[in-house]
Amino acid sequence: MTESVQTFLENCRDRTNLLLHNCLPVDGPNQRLIEAIRYATLGNGKRIRPCLVYGGGAVVTGGSGGGSSEATDKSACAVELIHTYSLIHDDLPAMDDDELRRGQPTCHIKYDEATAILAGDALQTLAFDQLGQIDKLASAQVVLLFRTLIHAIGAQGMVLGQAMDMAATDSLVDIAYLETMHQHKTADLIAASVVMGAISNGETSETVLCALQDYGVHIGLAFQVRDDLLDELSDTATLGKQVGADARLHKATYPSLLGLNRSKSLLDDALKQSLKALDIFGDEARHLRDIAHYIVNRGF
Ligand code: IPE
Ligand code: IPE
Ligand code: MG
Ligand code: MG
Ligand code: MG
Repeated sequence: MTESVQTFLENCRDRTNLLLHNCLPVDGPNQRLIEAIRYATLGNGKRIRPCLVYGGGAVVTGGSGGGSSEATDKSACAVELIHTYSLIHDDLPAMDDDELRRGQPTCHIKYDEATAILAGDALQTLAFDQLGQIDKLASAQVVLLFRTLIHAIGAQGMVLGQAMDMAATDSLVDIAYLETMHQHKTADLIAASVVMGAISNGETSETVLCALQDYGVHIGLAFQVRDDLLDELSDTATLGKQVGADARLHKATYPSLLGLNRSKSLLDDALKQSLKALDIFGDEARHLRDIAHYIVNRGF
């Protein structure tokens, strides 16, 4: 990783951590619920989706900062809150039944299942509250932010992907099924993050938003393929989550269906396609190009 992409990712991560810290409730009538929300969210996440929001923002602002606008910050927070909710629920016994996440016990192990479910529910509404707090952007753009996020995560997006994942467990699916499943469970939110970065900086051009969506779809698929590979190739300490979990649960994954080598070459194809989608942009898309390389090569 070059110095500059590392600095960009670190800056975005630090900024996101601060925003998350400031947006979460501290006290409430049910302190256990509040603690569970804070525990899961403020854990050691990579914050890659917020980085993509800022990277998408930078395409509009000409490559600098990624837009440190209020709307960009709120969008960055919103996508990370949604992502954290999805991880809490993904780890539940009824789903992947995992006990380790971000290097610490999963939310339902640290607290209990009911609290974990409710913490996830609360994080989802907190995400939309973040978007609702935007007041320095035209209301049509704010509505578009809501619609982009909603479309990416509901029964036609991430939740559909998770349902497909559960349905594919213990059964043999074909590559078309697997690709659609990965697209929904992971790439939809990743693509929405990039697009929201641009919208939150006032972008309205169909051409620009479609190109960013196209980039996000390909790099989002690559992100999940890399995640599948790491589950087989990495170790628990590095990942901060239990390796070999997919094989244990007979999950449908790229390596299980295609093997390691074909999965790796598919990763290269997805990288090329994601970069091609950025061809209409110049240097202002450099952060997105850098993030694409980071995603396909990441070690955790
Ligand atoms: C893990 O996401 C879940 C997937 C969609 C593969 P990340 O790898 O982004 O997890 P954190 O947020 O860094 O913990
Ligand atoms: C999780 O995919 C996708 C979502 C949370 C939507 P995985 O089940 O592969 O993620 P990990 O490996 O547990 O992080
Ligand atoms: Mg899962
Ligand atoms: Mg999982
Ligand atoms: Mg995984």
